[in-house]
Amino acid sequence: MASIARLLARLIEVQAPWAKPLGEFNKRWIGWITHRLGPLTDLLHGRWLGHPLHAATTDVPVGALTVSLVLDVLDQRPAADIALIIGVLFMLLSAVIGAVDYADTDGTALMQATVHSTVMVLSLAVYLVSLAIRAGQPDDRSAAVVSAFIGYGLLTVGAYIGGHVVYALGNMTWRHAFLSRGSKWQPIELDPAIELADGAPARVRFGSELLVVVRIGETIHALHEKCAHAGGPLSKGTIVDGCIQCPWHGSRFELATGHVRRGPSVYDQPRYEVRLGEKGWEARRFPS
Ligand code: FES
Repeated sequence: MASIARLLARLIEVQAPWAKPLGEFNKRWIGWITHRLGPLTDLLHGRWLGHPLHAATTDVPVGALTVSLVLDVLDQRPAADIALIIGVLFMLLSAVIGAVDYADTDGTALMQATVHSTVMVLSLAVYLVSLAIRAGQPDDRSAAVVSAFIGYGLLTVGAYIGGHVVYALGNMTWRHAFLSRGSKWQPIELDPAIELADGAPARVRFGSELLVVVRIGETIHALHEKCAHAGGPLSKGTIVDGCIQCPWHGSRFELATGHVRRGPSVYDQPRYEVRLGEKGWEARRFPS
């Protein structure tokens, strides 16, 4: 079975010659739109839910279109058509929501997400053909049913590739899922009270991890250095309204709490306490 998985992964990778430039092109125009939608962008990312909204909405069309297929086989015409209409409507909704995440995706994930979205658009087009045939209420529905089967095949392929982008490439997953939850005090290689300019982020070593430390007046804030969205370096970010803003896609995290205040991240940033211990400055992860 592992060889099948490798073959499928290879089949996705060889799409790079067309998917890479198309992805860069799509990212530009989709990003131009989504970055002007203000709070609606965050709503579509799923920041309010604490998980990417795209993952939740894609379940509905897969379920509805599976039911539609079964009802087609059983020749339950009105019910099959209703399930197909629901599936198509949720495919459109999922496409819009997925496009918002797509605009903040880079590299290999962007290339593979382009393959995923292209296959899904093809599936949607075939389903619209099936719907148009059904609308004519023909006695012989063979063409409508066959096209629905083709659409379902494409949907399955597209869903597989989408799963690969998430599970194999870690796109839109929480970057700190495997970070130790231990809260032991450990030394940090910096004296924040002396070496930090007020409001200037600095990267400091903390055991095997890196933190971004910011001094605001007498208060020293520390968060994990890698952005929860896609691992951007927060120490290269900017301080905005009590938050640190990631330089890669603009997620903002409250310095005082680590809470995400603006996407594309839908996850909070691990937060650390800093104190002056007996042997010098040290930090520990704040229990969340
Ligand atoms: S890496 Fe994307 S917002 Fe930080």
